[in-house]
Amino acid sequence: MEKVHILDHPLLQHKLSILRDRNTGVKEFREIVSEMATLECYEATRDLPLKEVELDTPVARGTFKTLAGKKLAIVPILRAGLGMVDGILNLIPSAKVGHIGLYRDPETNAPVEYYCKMPVDIAERDVIVLDPMLATGGSASAAITFLKGYGCKHIKLMNILAAPKGIAQVQKDHPDVDIYVAAVDEGLDEHAYIIPGLGDAGDRIFGTK
Ligand code: PRP
Ligand code: URA
Repeated sequence: MEKVHILDHPLLQHKLSILRDRNTGVKEFREIVSEMATLECYEATRDLPLKEVELDTPVARGTFKTLAGKKLAIVPILRAGLGMVDGILNLIPSAKVGHIGLYRDPETNAPVEYYCKMPVDIAERDVIVLDPMLATGGSASAAITFLKGYGCKHIKLMNILAAPKGIAQVQKDHPDVDIYVAAVDEGLDEHAYIIPGLGDAGDRIFGTK
């Protein structure tokens, strides 16, 4: 069983409270989702392999560390996952980006796929799936199943906010996937919205409500 990393850094907790506030407007909401993705990325990439290089500083020659050049991809779940893409690319500008479109059926809350476009070599890449919200876990679990179908072997899931049910679902379906999240709330309401949550992340990022 892989791990759930609850990222309780004060900067993340502060920013999350701004997202939760119903009075936070679309501009600030979008900026903060992106900033939180950058901060979470710092933790989610902690295990990236390094290699040694020899180089000259202005003072002396030495052996130093650089990234070993592991191939990475990020896969936002449309729509809301798009809000996290730029925040990750700030730190990993060479990552490839795949897209998977899923929405929750309003009656059943089951994920429905409507779009998919992956880098051709996605199976060779370590993948970070992005979605601000992990509620029932249906969308994230379906996206991960889909990526495994493409041959991906090393997958991480990055969320901003989760419910216990969503975490349990992903752990049950994909015990090999590490989850990175800033907080876990108490539960879900009757529409499968996270309580107390932050509302509909897609609507708040794109200003559609
Ligand atoms: C939201 C969110 C996740 C999903 C989480 O997307 O961005 O993808 O719900 O819920 P789950 O864990 O119960 O599957 P939504 O379906 O509202 O689509 P949107 O991003 O287009 O708004
Ligand atoms: N999707 C959202 O955007 N918010 C929730 O609380 C649950 C699912």
